[in-house]
Amino acid sequence: MQEHKFSAIVLAAGQGKRMKSSLPKVLHPVAGQPMISRIVNCVKMAGATEVRVVVGVGESLVRQVVEPLGAICFKQNEQRGTADAVHAAQPGSLNETVLIINGDHPLIEVDDVRRALEDFFNSRGGITLGVAKLKRPGSLGRVIREGGEVRAIVEARDASAETLKIREVNTGIYVLEATLLNQMLPLIHGSTRAAENAQGEYYLTDLIMLAVENKIPISGVRLPAHVAMGVNSQSELAQASRRLFFRNAKRLMDEGAVFIDPRATYVEDNVRIGAASVIYPGAYIRGSTRIGSFCVVEPNAYLNAVEMEDSVHVLGGSYLENCVLRTKSVVGPYARVRPETEIGAGAHIGNFVELKKVKFGAGAKAGHLTYLGDAEVGENTNIGCGTITCNYAVDRKKYRTTIGRDVFVGSDTQFVAPVTVGDGAVVGSGSTITKDVPAKALAVARGKQVNIENYQTKKSQTSK
Ligand code: UD1
Ligand code: MG
Repeated sequence: MQEHKFSAIVLAAGQGKRMKSSLPKVLHPVAGQPMISRIVNCVKMAGATEVRVVVGVGESLVRQVVEPLGAICFKQNEQRGTADAVHAAQPGSLNETVLIINGDHPLIEVDDVRRALEDFFNSRGGITLGVAKLKRPGSLGRVIREGGEVRAIVEARDASAETLKIREVNTGIYVLEATLLNQMLPLIHGSTRAAENAQGEYYLTDLIMLAVENKIPISGVRLPAHVAMGVNSQSELAQASRRLFFRNAKRLMDEGAVFIDPRATYVEDNVRIGAASVIYPGAYIRGSTRIGSFCVVEPNAYLNAVEMEDSVHVLGGSYLENCVLRTKSVVGPYARVRPETEIGAGAHIGNFVELKKVKFGAGAKAGHLTYLGDAEVGENTNIGCGTITCNYAVDRKKYRTTIGRDVFVGSDTQFVAPVTVGDGAVVGSGSTITKDVPAKALAVARGKQVNIENYQTKKSQTSK
């Protein structure tokens, strides 16, 4: 497509009454990302030179989300309808093509926006209206045609039973020249229609009827059904998330990832998964997570910003954030890997093991019930069941535990940090290690066992 300049006006001031939530509607996340961020990014990627977002309800919260994306916010003081919202964006200061889009249509893709623009630039000017044909048009505005030409949009609320049968709907995407928009807006505000419609609002949809009256050509460009999917209620929000999670799974399957049940797997947009990696139902994979090839992610694993090399196995119920898993490492089931942790190649982290700020060496093992924090564990070291690094001291500071390579740590050991264990050392089970252990030494720090002979017999005699 030839590059044409355009600005975008995104309508996002509405309260979203039907959401029954105090969070502004457009901030509700769809597949992990506020719907307004999706729209702003989408129009930017389609080439918008300027993105104006109309804010109102929850203004400061919406600003915090869209301004960092490069959008400029315009306040609509009172929510008096979609035409009034466009007016609030001060289109008088725009002088190029304008794309108007709703902030509550999270499934719109860059290609959809491009298609609307392409239609506009290929047609004779006038107005391009994005339309879609739906099986269940529900509460969307109906497109009225006469002799095939778009003549008007009638809101479902204001429509007769006959009009409600129309399946062609308004997607809320309009493209027109700023000059024309600035001529038409006063006509909507000047008309008496606001007083007549069901909501008593200034409807942007009246633009079409007024354009027809003024002999301005209208082109209804047919866009895919997902474009029309607006979110107005919690159940529509859930449906939109589900659609986007599926879209992501589908994209990854096209690249060779294996999903046991893509409808029951939750993968956000920026996640990458290598070929032949298997994702089980219930896995929730977020943010910048990168999964290599031949990996397995079992049910109910939660992964956020995880970097996984090839052939890594994450067993069910594990919770991983901001960490690196080197090739052939195995984690879980029910392991918790916290930020700034790196698990070395072929290392094994078993059930109920928590790691935080740990560099865990290649081939090392911590099989069961262990907490390691602010620690380094050398290659091929074995950490016995129930080991704890006591990293947080009474002075409320954190201290490090450094354990060398080929160390054998017996079960139920505590390392009171700061402490260092040399390569090849052995720590006896049940030890509380408070002093450094030299390389190859055996450290035992526990009470000596005392056996009292015939203890039970003597006890029963004294109690007689
Ligand atoms: C609107 C259209 C309808 C279309 C549908 C697509 C009108 C009158 N109707 O209906 O034809 O099929 O979108 O989803 O335009 N907003 C403001 N300020 C306001 C009112 C709304 O910024 O005063 C914003 C909302 O935040 C929302 C968008 O405009 O992002 C659309 O408003 P909404 O109330 O959801 O309109 P619909 O009833 O969905
Ligand atoms: Mg809506």
